[in-house]
Amino acid sequence: MSSQPIITATCSAPVNIAVIKYWGKRDTKLILPTNDSLSVTLDQDHLRSVTTARADISFQKGDRLWLNGVEEEIGTEGRLRTCIEECRKVRKGMEAKDGSLAKISGLPLHICSENNFPTAAGLASSASGFAALVATLAALYGLKPTLNSSDLSKFARQGSGSACRSLFGGFVAWQSGTEASGDDSLAIEVAPREHWPTLQALICVVSDAKKGTPSTAGMQRTVATSPLLQHRIKDVVPARMEAMRKAIKDHDFDSFADLTMADSNNFHACALDTAPPIFYMNDVSRAIVQLVEEFNRASVAEGKGKRIAYTYDAGPNAVLYAEEKEMKTILAVIRHYFPNTDFDDTFNLLGAGANASHRGAQ
Ligand code: DP6
Repeated sequence: MSSQPIITATCSAPVNIAVIKYWGKRDTKLILPTNDSLSVTLDQDHLRSVTTARADISFQKGDRLWLNGVEEEIGTEGRLRTCIEECRKVRKGMEAKDGSLAKISGLPLHICSENNFPTAAGLASSASGFAALVATLAALYGLKPTLNSSDLSKFARQGSGSACRSLFGGFVAWQSGTEASGDDSLAIEVAPREHWPTLQALICVVSDAKKGTPSTAGMQRTVATSPLLQHRIKDVVPARMEAMRKAIKDHDFDSFADLTMADSNNFHACALDTAPPIFYMNDVSRAIVQLVEEFNRASVAEGKGKRIAYTYDAGPNAVLYAEEKEMKTILAVIRHYFPNTDFDDTFNLLGAGANASHRGAQ
């Protein structure tokens, strides 16, 4: 029997869906983005990663990690290693300062992470996964209150850029920052979930197959080849971030919808402007765009303003944002035009009316 403490912690983190997209890195190692982004964190009940970590002297093979029951190589460098070592380093510093703290930073870790949704299907599994990893290690090592969620977001960012935003619930901005060290590239809360409790998300799983071009490779190809991306970075996103903050502050769904859809389209235009081009949306995705546009046009003509916003990440699945009171009608319309929704491979509905969560990783 060892006299060393056995320490275990479990945390979960939700998925976030960007309404102003992150697409492009200025530093691929530190994961520093080419533009600011803004997202809504979804409800933990529907899409989440749950991670357990245990530090134990008896783990003789060193640090190990299992994702959905399958062991993943942590390696000596790379994203997983970076996230683990960033957390460990802080604990080590705390132990050096305070002699009464248990010496756990040197113990090997076993980490186990599960998603309750398909991995890498354009459903932001890396975002919730790395956020849950950092939240779990922060709990294991007792890093809070030394570090706050924005500090931890810098660690999660180095796992997967979008993961930094899942450390918070509600409406979250990732400030790209200007420092080469990445010290000011972090997530901040724009507004808590309670600020706009009636906003909901509907996720239409067009396909849960693993996506063709992973975002990491895709975005760097866009950075290297797309003139449109340069226009997006300089002339489009800064003004859009401001307008989006205002739309959220004012609960202005009409503007929120305009900006969300425009930014999704601009991001996919940049993917198309990449050489060779990247196609994330498919015919079903485009049919949903047309349906939403038509629904909004009719609604505006009736003087009701826009009622649905669509957005697409690096895959064909649609995320529709709407006010809670509209969701029943929207679901009925979607089911009417895509009657084979429920168990058809081409189009399943998941997480209908998922509330954004009150908290991020917890
Ligand atoms: C389209 O965060 O998955 O979802 O930093 O390389 O891991 P890496 O990329 P990732 O990219 C997400 C791209 C996006 C837009 C967004 O979430 O902002």
